[in-house]
Amino acid sequence: MLKTVQDTLKRPLQDLRISVTDRCNFRCEYCMPAEVFGPDHSFLPKDQVLTFEEIERLAALFADLGVKKIRLTGGEPLLRRDISELINKLINIEGISDIGLTTNGIFLPKQAPALFTAGLRRLNISLDALNDDIFKKMNGRGVSSKAVLKGIDTALQMGFDIKVNMVVQKGMNEQEILPMAKYFRDMGVTLRFIEFMDVGNSNGWNLDKVVSKKEIFQMLSKEFELIAVDASYYGEVAKRYKYKEKDAEIGFITSVSESFCSSCTRARISADGKLFTCLFASKGYDLKSYLRNGSTDDTIKNEIISIWNHRSDRYSDLRTNKQLGTKDKIEMSYIGG
Ligand code: GTP
Ligand code: 5AD
Ligand code: SF4
Ligand code: SF4
Repeated sequence: MLKTVQDTLKRPLQDLRISVTDRCNFRCEYCMPAEVFGPDHSFLPKDQVLTFEEIERLAALFADLGVKKIRLTGGEPLLRRDISELINKLINIEGISDIGLTTNGIFLPKQAPALFTAGLRRLNISLDALNDDIFKKMNGRGVSSKAVLKGIDTALQMGFDIKVNMVVQKGMNEQEILPMAKYFRDMGVTLRFIEFMDVGNSNGWNLDKVVSKKEIFQMLSKEFELIAVDASYYGEVAKRYKYKEKDAEIGFITSVSESFCSSCTRARISADGKLFTCLFASKGYDLKSYLRNGSTDDTIKNEIISIWNHRSDRYSDLRTNKQLGTKDKIEMSYIGG
């Protein structure tokens, strides 16, 4: 029986977030600002991106080491051709009990049926505003919120379990907090409010642009009675509440105001096969070379164990304590959140 792989802070390796592409059809200012990710931006060349077979092999090795939960991210993961085939492969890996995918939702009207048939059941869909002027500005591509709502409706009809992610930025979309809460409460869909984070180096983050959980909670409490819900597993990212009057939940992802590094069990793989031990890391460990140089499964597993055993990341804890974070961070669109 395998011993849990733990890091220097005794955190087990339990979740794997896999970015399948660094490309996206949106240019959200907080993630891929259009001024930085312009027409000349060079994305990863195709031959550097892991194939589905390589991702499957890595995921199986991580499962051997204790990973139970996989999340596919991007960029926008549904831009990756035939992503359902990958889901089908991952679903069959022994030890993996949960697979989710985080998407901007635009391609769901077309792709939801194939994803469902492949076995996917959980989708986290990003939507920052119902108001079109605000949403069009925030996604940087002038896309209407109706397009995302259509994706959400299609996925609900198919039977997906859905959460909606709303990044809240001061001066941008705070006025959408209540309308979004009402809308998704009435639909019985979980809405999570995400504090704007200082990921990457290009999103112009500063503390003044963050709307904290406390502020959002105060706003919501004037309208709704909310009851705290216990975490459903060790290391759950969101702090959850349910509405007293309705069968629906909300969540808060409080990386800035109440960091959650002490139970962070997440490893991340970039689309070009690097392993990152924190969302705010600057350096990744190149696993693709091992996959492509004939290394055995045991060699790769030992490398992963060694990396995880040396892990000491707790970026958000340190930031909360007002210490300066690293300057040279990887971009959100490259690592997938
Ligand atoms: P489930 O709990 O499985 O539904 O997924 P999730 O909430 O972990 O995934 P999702 O991709 O929807 O992420 C929601 C938000 O949480 C995004 O803004 C992520 O960047 C953020 N997030 C997820 N994991 C971490 C983490 O380890 N550290 C920090 N700081 N943020 C995280
Ligand atoms: N701060 C907080 N959340 C972010 N996301 C992307 N960039 C940021 C940021 N700077 C969110 C997306 C998506 C999830 C993967 O991460 O909106 O829902
Ligand atoms: Fe694309 Fe998601 Fe980043 Fe927006 S937050 S640019 S939808 S990857
Ligand atoms: Fe984990 Fe890094 Fe996020 Fe802390 S900041 S919860 S260590 S990914």
